[in-house]
Amino acid sequence: MILSIESSCDDSSIAITEIATKKLIYHKKISQELEHSKYGGVVPELASRLHAQALPAILAECEPWFSQLKAIAVTNEPGLGVTLIEGVTMAKALSIALNIPILPINHLKGHIYSLFIEKEAVLPITVLLVSGGHTQLIEVKSYTEMETVATTMDDSYGESFDKVAKMMSLGYPGGPLIEKLSLSGDSSRFAFTVPLWQSPLIAFSYSGLKNQVRLAVEANDESAYPDIAAAFQKTATDHLIQKLKKYFKSRPPVRFAIVGGASANLYLRERVKDVLHPYKAELLLSELKYCSDNAAMIGRAAVESFRNNFVVDYKKIAINPRCK
Ligand code: KG4
Ligand code: ZN
Repeated sequence: MILSIESSCDDSSIAITEIATKKLIYHKKISQELEHSKYGGVVPELASRLHAQALPAILAECEPWFSQLKAIAVTNEPGLGVTLIEGVTMAKALSIALNIPILPINHLKGHIYSLFIEKEAVLPITVLLVSGGHTQLIEVKSYTEMETVATTMDDSYGESFDKVAKMMSLGYPGGPLIEKLSLSGDSSRFAFTVPLWQSPLIAFSYSGLKNQVRLAVEANDESAYPDIAAAFQKTATDHLIQKLKKYFKSRPPVRFAIVGGASANLYLRERVKDVLHPYKAELLLSELKYCSDNAAMIGRAAVESFRNNFVVDYKKIAINPRCK
């Protein structure tokens, strides 16, 4: 079995995965969303302190399996430095105490393998990763061969929902709040410009849209918020869809997936289904409970790392907050 730890942002989570069967033996997550909500975003120092409380409390429940562990997996990149260090320090302590090696796991690979929790991986696959920190299009050939073919030039898709929710004082995380508010709004009332719509680049950008929304929020009262939210969600998603269409012209999709916290957005899921339809491409989605950060996906990725023998000594593991 592998014990996996996730603390790259505001979720403290630990899982235990059986290597041979990929079965999830244990999984728990304590989210800090409520604590950060009053600040309209994640406060790194607060997140770090909350991990220091939550992770040991979860770990205590895992003791019955300690003797069966073959490795400790931990997210070591990318993420917030002060929160990654909490998980990595716990992993090092466990590695020393149980005399087993560490599997450092890339958080983005974790999101990709959230598709395959308790399952065999089906590859190759084209993946749209939409989270709070990333917006990327990735060609996944195998666990070790992944090519990022498009990325954001500034903010991410999920982050733009957080920022718009903050402008409207809705709370954090903004994604589910904006999605819900949009349901009662009329997206045609505000005509925001789709980012990079005239550019031949296959890339993403959300800072310009964010500013357009800010002006609309400032110029209107609260009664307009549902319409602004709906127009924003539509434009932010139009942008993804427009770039996907462009990309598919040169590389028609066969198997496609959306992963990351924002892949829980049902409007986005429907729009992607529509764009895949003419290609008869298969769409893979993670279960809703595994879209946002969790240790089950880190454990699932770790099974692949273990098979590739990517184990390291506790002295060799370092955090890498900014890696892509
Ligand atoms: O993957 P994740 O849990 O953390 C990162 O790795 O960043 O993603 C969190 C992000 C937040 O920005 C959150 O607002 C966004 O995912 N999100 C959504 C939805 N649910 C979560 N964005 C749009 N619509 C949603 N329903
Ligand atoms: Zn994430």
